[in-house]
Amino acid sequence: MQDSVLVFGGTGNYGQFIVRSLVQKKIPVKVFTRDAERAKKKLGEEPVFFEGDVLNRKSIIGSLVDVKAIIITLSAMHAKLIRKQKMIEHDAVMVILDEAEKRQIKRIVFISIYDTQKELIDKLKLEVGYYKIAIEDRLAKSNFNWTVLGCPPSFMIFKSFTRKRMMIVPGGGSPLMPSLAPQDVGEIAAQAVIRDDLNKKRFRMTSAEPFSFPEVAERISSVLGRKIKYRKLPLFGLKIASIATYPFNPYLRHLVKYVQLLNNFPTDIAKQAVVDHQILKSTFDYESMSLEDYIRISLK
Ligand SMILES: NC(=O)c1ccc[n+]([C@@H]2O[C@H](COP(=O)([O-])OP(=O)(O)OC[C@H]3O[C@@H](n4cnc5c(N)ncnc54)[C@H](OP(=O)(O)O)[C@@H]3O)[C@@H](O)[C@H]2O)c1
Repeated sequence: MQDSVLVFGGTGNYGQFIVRSLVQKKIPVKVFTRDAERAKKKLGEEPVFFEGDVLNRKSIIGSLVDVKAIIITLSAMHAKLIRKQKMIEHDAVMVILDEAEKRQIKRIVFISIYDTQKELIDKLKLEVGYYKIAIEDRLAKSNFNWTVLGCPPSFMIFKSFTRKRMMIVPGGGSPLMPSLAPQDVGEIAAQAVIRDDLNKKRFRMTSAEPFSFPEVAERISSVLGRKIKYRKLPLFGLKIASIATYPFNPYLRHLVKYVQLLNNFPTDIAKQAVVDHQILKSTFDYESMSLEDYIRISLK
């Protein structure tokens, strides 16, 4: 396959929408995955699948043949992978960049966290934040033609805290937080990777307004026409469980930090969502999916 876009993490929450948008645009796409059969079931027959593991340099090297651009959207935020988070989200990404550099593959789109605000990352001791900062620093000093798309939790997070008639949120989730449909990330990343004029640009990916969990519960209720009760769960229960089960279950500790992040989202950054969204709209050609449409499609 000549000159394809290689996607690391192309089966993930965001990655699958990126791959679908690339396929829709008839852009040759190669998906790097640990399980090609499973990936094919999710993404269909059109992408080329490269089976490998980013923890293996040889398989990264093998995947780079006939590649003109790379999208990196890897994550290890899963119970089974969390012990390897640094290896997957930091070390392997550095290897991908090393090997891409050697082969003079210039165009890189990196899916990162919404904002690399050091103060909050330090406060929560958010390991993943330090990994993303290191990679963004590396890109900034490189000769790559790079673009960073800083992503918040997508609308999927509201769905994952909702069960039938109840939204239960540890810590309450009352601060405003930017969010968007994963479909928007897919479309924007697919447009970004085939453009050459976005070098050294970092975008904060958001819909036009920030959201709080209690407000989203109201909006789900009104779209679905049935009351979704919102309940705040004390965070200390989760914290105690994470301490009690550590080191047997390090995932819980990461989950606590993630939930703390949702509950401490900096208001000043959330309030800039309107402007951040305008920047996206003036740079990319897409129709942003509303929360209501997302609810209609995925929560029915
Ligand atoms: N989801 C969110 O709420 C959120 C919020 C903010 C930022 N982000 C950022 O968005 C990016 C993507 O996150 P996501 O939630 O979409 O990821 P995800 O759903 O957890 O998917 C993880 C992806 O990583 C791949 N992967 C993991 N270990 C691998 C390995 N050893 N070798 C090869 N592939 C491996 C998986 O591929 P296979 O299983 O096919 O091998 C999968 O496609 C990350 O940079 C994350 O920090 C996400």
